[in-house]
Amino acid sequence: MVNNNNSPKVYIETYGCQMNVNDTEVILSILRKEGYERTENMEEASIILVNTCSVRDNAEQRIWGRIEQFKPIRKNNKGTIVGIVGCMAERLKDKLLESHEVDLVAGPDSYRKLPTLIKEASSEHPQIDIILSKEETYDDIMPVRIDKNGVSAFISIMRGCNNVCSYCIVPYTRGVERSRNPRTIVGEAREAFRQGYREITLLGQNVDSYFWRDKETADDDVNFAQLLEMVAQIDPMLRIRFSTSHPKDISDEVIYTMGMYENICKHIHFPVQSGSDRILSKMRRRYTREWYLERVAKIHSVMPECGLTTDIISGFCSETEEDHKQTLSLMEQVGFYYAYMFQYSERPGTLAAKMYPDDVPPEVKTRRLNEIIALQNKLSLKSNENDLGKIMKVLVEGTSKRNAEELCGRASNNKMCVFPDRFPEGFTSYSEFEIPGIVTSGKINIGDYVMVKAVSCTSATLICELV
Ligand code: 5AD
Ligand code: SF4
Repeated sequence: MVNNNNSPKVYIETYGCQMNVNDTEVILSILRKEGYERTENMEEASIILVNTCSVRDNAEQRIWGRIEQFKPIRKNNKGTIVGIVGCMAERLKDKLLESHEVDLVAGPDSYRKLPTLIKEASSEHPQIDIILSKEETYDDIMPVRIDKNGVSAFISIMRGCNNVCSYCIVPYTRGVERSRNPRTIVGEAREAFRQGYREITLLGQNVDSYFWRDKETADDDVNFAQLLEMVAQIDPMLRIRFSTSHPKDISDEVIYTMGMYENICKHIHFPVQSGSDRILSKMRRRYTREWYLERVAKIHSVMPECGLTTDIISGFCSETEEDHKQTLSLMEQVGFYYAYMFQYSERPGTLAAKMYPDDVPPEVKTRRLNEIIALQNKLSLKSNENDLGKIMKVLVEGTSKRNAEELCGRASNNKMCVFPDRFPEGFTSYSEFEIPGIVTSGKINIGDYVMVKAVSCTSATLICELV
């Protein structure tokens, strides 16, 4: 491909969680100020960055494979810098530099230094910055959005984590928890809305422990429920989501605030990890099955339609068949509509790696995971079947993958809906009398809100008609 102008180009790949996606947007913003432009063609890039994840061993293995593939580009295009940033940079700095395949290593709190590191990096002098900060929140940086739809944006509200669940590497790669100034969060959300975004997701490793106290005035404390309310009040046409909640920390105040505002989406990602008290205690999750179920009951008592999704780990240290059955029974009891499901992967340096043998044989972990996946498929289908006939408000995100004349978007409960891209001529939607701001005739555009009725479903999608 031909270079259209002379600005240096950066190519960046992102692995891992939504937080990493948002970090990539922060990195692009920092580099843009220095004159770098983003490219999707790594051949024309003067710098290749990989924003990495360490949460499981297979995530890291994939990245080692990728580094191997960058070798020829690094050799051919003289001067192309390959940099590893993110969680794996923090965890494996020495190994990465020893590989002699990378020129730069920068951890999650070092992105402001990237321009300097890039200037000074070369094969002979690889640059490294992995100092974790107690304060960095990148609060003054307006991310360069990399999502394609222009409708949903991520906003980080905090960084790091203080929980130290025994299996988890995150506290070691992302450091201690710190919350971001709420004024800058609201400012960023307002600006996103002005640019046409209609949905923002507030991100943090544990959003329920968000807490801001102004150092100078020492008053006007803001907790997560209050932050949610501040963002919800920006405009009724701006939807709010958030991730991730910790079952031990989600407060009644957060649940009531969600219930009070129509534009706070009725969905909670609520990672349970295991249904067995014995395993939860070894995981250091600091809640019991009973506590978790009580929180679910509270959520449903305030918001009966609230969608719940979860994370589950199979085969954690010492897990027995009975523990595994407890997980399956908890899944059935709650009826999650979606789950992210993983086999336990020992992470060096974590409490579990130090304290407990990784003693569930791989084939048992896999078999249990398969049982969890099979059950979840059933639960997803059942949950979607439950929504048939219901009328839902959907934010239009894009064209359906299967049919160019259909659109897709999510309902408040986060379920994916597919529906026609226009109203039939002469169609009178009853919604126009009921709900302000809803599109009720003609062609529908990305970023519009429409009302739909679910008429059929698969385990992944609600197939809907316009109403
Ligand atoms: N092994 C397997 N899964 C893990 N997760 C975090 N650490 C590990 C690990 N060592 C999962 C948890 C978490 C999600 C982001 O990743 O379920 O909620
Ligand atoms: Fe995100 Fe955790 Fe992976 Fe880091 S280790 S990228 S915080 S999922």
